[in-house]
Amino acid sequence: MEKLLEVKDLYTTFKTKHGEVKAVNGVSFDLAPGEIMAIVGESGSGKSVTAMSVLQLVARNGRISGGEILFEGSDLVKKTDKEMRSIRGKDISMIFQDPMSCLNPVFTIGWQLDEVLRLHNKGMSKADRTARIIDMLEQVGMSNPEARMKQYPHELSGGMRQRIMIAMSLLLDPKLLIADEPTTALDVTIQAQIMDLIVELAKKMGTAVILITHDLGVVAGVADKVMVMYAGEVVEKADLRDLYYKPAHPYTHGLLGALPRLNMEKNSLQPIPGSTPDLLLEREECPFFERCSVAMECCRKKPPFYNVGENHMAKCWRFHPDFIAYQNKQKEEQTNG
Ligand SMILES: Nc1ncnc2c1ncn2[C@@H]1O[C@H](COP(=O)(O)OP(=O)(O)OP(=O)(O)O)[C@@H](O)[C@H]1O
Ligand SMILES: [Mg+2]
Repeated sequence: MEKLLEVKDLYTTFKTKHGEVKAVNGVSFDLAPGEIMAIVGESGSGKSVTAMSVLQLVARNGRISGGEILFEGSDLVKKTDKEMRSIRGKDISMIFQDPMSCLNPVFTIGWQLDEVLRLHNKGMSKADRTARIIDMLEQVGMSNPEARMKQYPHELSGGMRQRIMIAMSLLLDPKLLIADEPTTALDVTIQAQIMDLIVELAKKMGTAVILITHDLGVVAGVADKVMVMYAGEVVEKADLRDLYYKPAHPYTHGLLGALPRLNMEKNSLQPIPGSTPDLLLEREECPFFERCSVAMECCRKKPPFYNVGENHMAKCWRFHPDFIAYQNKQKEEQTNG
């Protein structure tokens, strides 16, 4: 399959006065054109830093210390600032947590949308730009777009501003859209609507999407595949259905609110006891070791990824062939004796 984005063994670290924070530790994933992937994980698991690394917008005290980020085959890590600015405007766009941080309070909505087109499509006429803006505003479900264009950001509700952000991010028909918790500031019903809207429009336009959330429930019906992050590492990757119905990693079970060996159908969201490990320390053990209810002695060493199904991988010793054989033998003995 042709790939749009390939992230290979990415490491991103931050210098702080307490030491080096290892925020992203060997993350790899890929995305096909038009594919929708969710990144889920608790607060601090490295979801945003992964996204910002793709965009080459890591904070100034941070750096990408290893890995490659291939976008249409060329490595974004090696691009100049100027090249990245052009890619960010046109090929990859982003929707941030807080729309007010991206909208300028002193300009009208219409002016700001027009500026995006003016900067990136220099040859486009004013009339064509306006037609494109009106079309986009209609697509994100805004009634009376001409009137909306004359309004200022503070005159709109949170949900409306979020729609403007979606319109703005899709205006240039990007190949990849990254939406980082576009919904946390909004109430749950609007959250679901916004998430659905992003995916609906992206599907229509053939845009690939990375949706970032700490809530597996939010991406339930909308993502093609899911990557679960914990303490800067990917612990499980799977197609959405498999992740829901056949979660493999104990942490994913935790996110789904069901412990291994308990009822797999149960997927209410419950907090997992304990807290995430210190990202300042070099770790030998599995990052989930201390919180894992089924940890074994071998988990003091970091597990590799194991294939647990089609397109389904988990970083857990419980999927080592020897462990599976041992479990099967135990089951057999139980049924026989
Ligand atoms: N500029 C920075 N300097 C130092 N540490 C940072 C910096 N930015 C992020 N971090 C650390 O990197 C880790 C990963 O942060 P990140 O923002 O990616 O988490 P997240 O998964 O997006 O969490 P949330 O769900 O809360 O948004 C955290 O421990 C965070 O404190
Ligand atoms: Mg974040």
